[in-house]
Amino acid sequence: MERRALVTGAGGFIGSHLAERLVGEGYGVRALVHYNALGRTGWLADSPREIRETLDIVAGDIRDPAFMRRAMDGVDVVFHLAALIGIPYSYLAPDSYIAVNVQGTLNVLEAARDVGAKVVHTSTSEVYGTAQRVPIGEDHPLSAQSPYAASKIGADQLALSFHRSFGVPVAVVRPFNTYGPRQSARAVIPTIILQLLADPRRIALGNLAPTRDLTLVDDTVAGFVAADRAEAALGEVVNLGTGYEISIGALAARIAEEMGVEPVIEQAAARVRTTGSEVERLLSDNRRAADLLGWRPRLAGADGLAAGLRSTVGWFRARGADALGDAARYRV
Ligand SMILES: NC(=O)c1ccc[n+]([C@@H]2O[C@H](COP(=O)([O-])OP(=O)(O)OC[C@H]3O[C@@H](n4cnc5c(N)ncnc54)[C@H](O)[C@@H]3O)[C@@H](O)[C@H]2O)c1
Repeated sequence: MERRALVTGAGGFIGSHLAERLVGEGYGVRALVHYNALGRTGWLADSPREIRETLDIVAGDIRDPAFMRRAMDGVDVVFHLAALIGIPYSYLAPDSYIAVNVQGTLNVLEAARDVGAKVVHTSTSEVYGTAQRVPIGEDHPLSAQSPYAASKIGADQLALSFHRSFGVPVAVVRPFNTYGPRQSARAVIPTIILQLLADPRRIALGNLAPTRDLTLVDDTVAGFVAADRAEAALGEVVNLGTGYEISIGALAARIAEEMGVEPVIEQAAARVRTTGSEVERLLSDNRRAADLLGWRPRLAGADGLAAGLRSTVGWFRARGADALGDAARYRV
């Protein structure tokens, strides 16, 4: 019989790609999108019709335990991606991050425990803070440099505790920065691309020196599927990263080159994070993912990043101002 999956955050960037991939892998997919008065389904509205028609789309809120319990009926595995993810907004509204990322995760775990579903929980490399040693293995100390990171550490630990305390089958995947089509215009790669599309002569960014380990979203979602299939992942945290780092300044130069433009790259004070909150370096050790999940990024190293950036730039070019939406007017 087909395996039935619930994807929380299915209208979002990674969640929409994952929901589509799961359909392709033969799962029956219930896609949970955040309830809104307009009846919008996020990026699922962009999914190919033949995929969208097979999805069981439900709208709701992970903060509501009774809703969450009903959404989990008949589910074999929940891929839990719903979260508030912006770092700047977490400075302004930390209560919301506790409510969604911590309490919401608890509701997902309780519902999974009730119905006997497996949980593939989504962490983030932000939980490590600036690398104290590289590459960052899963045993690297956790150090929250933002309320967002703190809320994800809380959520991760709840997920692991449900495995240890109640035997809930839980696997924690910890993506490093993910990029690709549909990413929010507030993230760094879309910001660079969209600024250059608007004005090829200059880009204004935050700190240029921090490094990131960037994975194309197709590779990230392959890691989620592998985590569901691998018995060995139960009770484990597994990094999903490429093992290649690049500074934000060099990344901007790389994207500009791909787009055939030569901008001045400026640091804008309003975009710079405080020293304590800036994560200076993230570089993954991805050997556990290879060992436990048999996962390796298809695109890795400088060439892999170039190929991923090419397809991402192509998508944003084709979408133009559509991809930007109202993000340019957001103050966080
Ligand atoms: N994008 C990255 O680089 C990255 C890296 C590491 C980890 N992650 C993690 O991956 C997951 C998905 O991130 P994303 O980049 O796709 O972000 P996203 O913002 O596009 O997706 C998150 C989704 O969660 C939904 N959501 C928010 N609050 C909700 C609520 N109360 N109830 C139901 N749904 C709610 C949003 O509507 C959104 O669709 C998150 O858990 C994030 O922490 C992302």
